[in-house]
Amino acid sequence: MSDKPQREIALGISGGIGAYKTPELVRELVRSGVKVTAILTRNAEAFVAPLTLQTLTGEPVIRGLYDLSGNTDVEHIALSRRIGLLAVAPATAATLARFAQGLAQDFLSTFFLAVSCPVLVAPSMNTRMWLHPATQANLTLLRSRGVRVLEPSVGELACGETGSGRLPEPRDIAAEIMRLLDRRESWSGETVLVTAGPTREYLDPARILTNPSSGRMGYAVAEEALLRGAKVILVTGPSSLNEPWGAEVVRVETTEEMRTAVMEALPRSTWVIKAAAPADFRPRRLSREKSPKDSLTQLDLEATPDILAEISRRKNGQKVVGFSTGTSDYLEAARRKMHEKGLDLVVANRVDEPGAGFGAPTNRVVILGADGSQEVLPLLPKREVAARLLDRLELLRTPI
Ligand SMILES: Cc1cc2nc3c(=O)[nH]c(=O)nc-3n(C[C@H](O)[C@H](O)[C@H](O)COP(=O)(O)O)c2cc1C
Repeated sequence: MSDKPQREIALGISGGIGAYKTPELVRELVRSGVKVTAILTRNAEAFVAPLTLQTLTGEPVIRGLYDLSGNTDVEHIALSRRIGLLAVAPATAATLARFAQGLAQDFLSTFFLAVSCPVLVAPSMNTRMWLHPATQANLTLLRSRGVRVLEPSVGELACGETGSGRLPEPRDIAAEIMRLLDRRESWSGETVLVTAGPTREYLDPARILTNPSSGRMGYAVAEEALLRGAKVILVTGPSSLNEPWGAEVVRVETTEEMRTAVMEALPRSTWVIKAAAPADFRPRRLSREKSPKDSLTQLDLEATPDILAEISRRKNGQKVVGFSTGTSDYLEAARRKMHEKGLDLVVANRVDEPGAGFGAPTNRVVILGADGSQEVLPLLPKREVAARLLDRLELLRTPI
């Protein structure tokens, strides 16, 4: 096998309203030099014309299991061997169910069982269909078998409702496809310890101190490191995100628990990327009983353990990357943190900008190096920020 990534894919399109975005997706891919063969389910043809896809891909479109129109069986087997990726966008609830159950009922679901390349699905459907336990169980099964799931975005849906289930924008799907195609095992042999999410400090059994971190940035870093062949240990505070497939995940709640988990994993790691936002204060005394309201107007707090400072003291050759959040003086604060904690690199982000910081799917960051370098990134999806960060870290691994 050649090391050169195969820049040829099959694009499955199933019968969801999001199919109207696929011609644009094909254009993005073709522009990036990817050869695309479109595979339409019968129902997809109600949403997007085969002729449109055939014209944009420049390849015959595969339509039905028994309608090979010009393609022979042998060519399809050859296609399954040639492609570097099977991407399905949109993936309907029905198509996901067929994939999960191994029901080879049409060309796409038969092809899915036949390919040995990575598979990416981009589900898109009404929010209630998306949240239905049957759909979620099918996705869990598919993820456990290594299928990559591009989470749908939140917004206005074609049915008029607002919620989760929108097909991500073509350029974001194309970026994910390119990442999978260009996947290199450039981090194999490395163990990356990533922290993510907030922590919680209990005032009493019913009340907590925490922050709005969603875990998205850390999970994106973990996924990107996995994609590049690293072993990943993800220490995560409470987060509703799906666990990245293939990571060793340690779930914690308090900053002290995060500290313990990080210190346990540190000797096994070659990199530490601290994207978590641990609560930095906790009550000096935890009340076992729910406290009366008026007793909480004055809180007696103490600082939680400084995990990053302890990593700096205990590290033994690991490279350490921190995230620093701030407002107007965020760059100053990040530089200070880098020097005080002996970091190799710090990612600075403002938490008071629209679309950036806590909870947002996107982020705008500045990557500061201990060598004085400064890389300003535009507003990007967090997954893209993670990719750019790992690109930057690769330079630290192989100094020229
Ligand atoms: C107008 C319309 C829009 C639809 N949009 C979606 C959708 O976005 N996601 C989905 O899972 N199903 C959607 N469906 C239902 C699917 O078309 C249906 O489940 C079908 O069996 C899917 O077949 P396929 O997966 O083989 O293409 C829609 C149906 C109609 C009539």
